[in-house]
Amino acid sequence: MTILVTGGAGYIGSHTCVALVEAGYDLVVVDSFANSRPEALGRVQQITGREFPVYPVDLLDERGLDAVFEAQPVEAVIHFAALKAVGESVADPLRYYRNNVGGSISLFQTMERHGVTRLVFSSSATVYGAAEQMPLTEESPLGPVNPYGRTKWMVEQILRDQCAARPDWSVALLRYFNPVGAHASGRIGEDPSGVPNNLLPYVTQVAVGRLEQLTIHGDDYPTPDGTCIRDYVHVMDIAEGHVNALQHVLMTTGIEAFNLGTGRGSSVLEVVAAFEAATGIDIPRRVGPRRNGDAPVSYAGVDKAKQQLGWQAKRDLTEMCADAWRWQRENPQGYGV
Ligand code: UFG
Repeated sequence: MTILVTGGAGYIGSHTCVALVEAGYDLVVVDSFANSRPEALGRVQQITGREFPVYPVDLLDERGLDAVFEAQPVEAVIHFAALKAVGESVADPLRYYRNNVGGSISLFQTMERHGVTRLVFSSSATVYGAAEQMPLTEESPLGPVNPYGRTKWMVEQILRDQCAARPDWSVALLRYFNPVGAHASGRIGEDPSGVPNNLLPYVTQVAVGRLEQLTIHGDDYPTPDGTCIRDYVHVMDIAEGHVNALQHVLMTTGIEAFNLGTGRGSSVLEVVAAFEAATGIDIPRRVGPRRNGDAPVSYAGVDKAKQQLGWQAKRDLTEMCADAWRWQRENPQGYGV
């Protein structure tokens, strides 16, 4: 069975391609390479020992997409392709809405033209509003606080409307918490452009000597050690969650959201300590002011994914840190070298 993966060269996309091949699916990848590198897919092919067609097409190019659907027997789509930098989305919202929302609509219309009705959509825990109640369940109130988060929220709504209008469609909305780590081979991993915004890529770049020290964004939060708590989840667990979600949409109709997290929160200081313990490397750090928009605590309720997808995260924080470090150590410049 052939699965179209948009954004397959990206961080979560490339790991999911490995998991899909290992689960026995045939792949077709569409990626604009606006924010990713073809090399990532070359490495996926090395890891899996399988070749698959790759189309350098932007989702806004509907003719280009049509050609892919005409050439390939696509039966379901996993849609990752999107821009994902929160700060950039605040500075350039139109670019974000055009790419993430416009690109998604273009993809869904193309699916409709070609009779493809099965979709797994890459959403984010960032669609949840500031919540007092933890864990966040799929029923928690939504209310993203930046344009990036609103693009994910809007696409979720568009898909709900589409599923209401087309009862033969089947969609899983996957709300990721904090994906980290890398494939255990050390051949693929996260390759942020510029200075990383996210915690673990920053820590690994300090460890490899690309950055001098970590700034902890605030240690005066109402948490046990004063630093923010997040639900870090291994990217291979996330990748495997897509395989389960795919199997789910192939067997059902309608639309459901699922959290992908571990259900367990870790503070910034706990992550740094886990990284140091897993690697034996000291991470120089200083405490800076709070970062705008950071919630003190966020972690997932994971019962729904467990019950309906039969999925739960298997890898712990030590493995996340060890795998993130192997990738960074063996690829100090990411895919750049
Ligand atoms: N942090 C630091 N120093 C850093 C980077 C991060 O202390 O250099 C802290 C943050 O303040 C936060 C925690 O580490 O407390 C995690 O931060 P990340 O940026 O790694 O993760 P976020 O939870 O902020 O980000 C997540 C997703 C993003 C998404 C964002 C939306 O990873 O993709 O939520 O707010 F866009």
